[in-house]
Amino acid sequence: MTTRTLMTTVAALAMTATAALAEGQTIGFSQIGSESGWRAAETTLTQTQAKERGYQLQFSDAQQKQENQIAAIRSFIAQGVDAILLAPVVATGWDSVLEEAKEAEIPVVLLDRQVDSSDDMYLTAVGSNLVHEGEVAGTWLAETVAGKDCRIVELQGTTGSSPAIDRKTGFENAIKDHANLQIVRSQTGDFTRAQGKEVMESFLQAENGGKDICALYAHNDDMAVGAIQAIKEAGLAPGKDILVVSIDAVPDIFKAMADGEANATVELTPNMAGPAFDALEAYWKDGTMPAKFIQTDSRLYTQADDPAGEYEARKDLGY
Ligand code: AHR
Repeated sequence: MTTRTLMTTVAALAMTATAALAEGQTIGFSQIGSESGWRAAETTLTQTQAKERGYQLQFSDAQQKQENQIAAIRSFIAQGVDAILLAPVVATGWDSVLEEAKEAEIPVVLLDRQVDSSDDMYLTAVGSNLVHEGEVAGTWLAETVAGKDCRIVELQGTTGSSPAIDRKTGFENAIKDHANLQIVRSQTGDFTRAQGKEVMESFLQAENGGKDICALYAHNDDMAVGAIQAIKEAGLAPGKDILVVSIDAVPDIFKAMADGEANATVELTPNMAGPAFDALEAYWKDGTMPAKFIQTDSRLYTQADDPAGEYEARKDLGY
C-alpha cells in the first residue's frame, strides 16, 4: 500500500468512525415558527440532514414565542438529548436556560440569529453577518439611484430579533454618507408577508398614495412580496415606481424580479444545519471546539442575475 493510499484509508476510517459515533444521537431543535418561506426551508433542510446523518430530531415549533422556546429547551434538557439547536426569536433573555443546558453538559448551537448572552453559554453560532447584509442592500440602493433624491420606507423584521437590529444598522451605515437617501418611515412587519402588506399599505397612504416613495427596503423577502402586492393595489409599479430591495433570496422574490417587480435581494442560505452538524460531530469525536461563529456567505442578486433561472433552481427546495 502506498503512503497516499494508506492516508486515504485512514481518513475514510476516521470519517466512518465519526459518522458511527454521531448516528443515533438525539438532537432537540427549537425553531422560531414558520413566519417566512426562508424559515420553512431551514426547517426542511434541518430535518433532511438529521435523517441523512441518522439522528433522532426532536422538533419544536415555538410559534414566535420566546417562552415556548425556553419551555422546549427545558424539556430537551429533561430528556437528556445529546445536543440542542436553537434559532432564537429575540436576542435577549436566554441566560438562565442556556446556563441550565451548560450545567447539564448539553452543547447548544445557535442557528441564524444571535443572542446577547456570553458566548461561553453555547458551543457555536451558525449564521451570516447580518450587519453586512444590510450594508450590501444599502450600497446597492445608493449605487442604483446614483445621487438622485430618494425617500425610503423600511419594513423591519421582528422587534428585538438580531436580524432586525443588525440589518437596520447595516443599511443605515451604508446610506449615512449619502445626503440624497433618507429613511422616511420605518416599522416592523414581523418578517411576515401579511404584515409586510399591511404596513406597506399604511406607508403608501401616508406618502401621497406612494408617489413620494422612491424605494422600499424590507428586512426579508416575504415582507417585500406582501408589500409588492400593496404597491400594485395602489396603482403603482413595484420595481419601477418604487424600487424594492430585500434579504433572503427565496424563490418568490426571484419570480418577482423576473417579472420586473423587485430589484435586488441578498442571499441568506437556509442550510444552517449542515455546518452545525459538522461542528457537533467534530466535538463529539474528540472534543474539537469549533469557532464561536461559523459564518455563511451573503450574495447580492439583481435582475441581471437570471432571476427566472434562480426561481426554477430553488422552487422545489422546501421554501
Ligand atoms: O433570522 C433569519 C430571518 O428570519 C430571515 O431573513 C427571515 O426570513 C426569517 O424569518
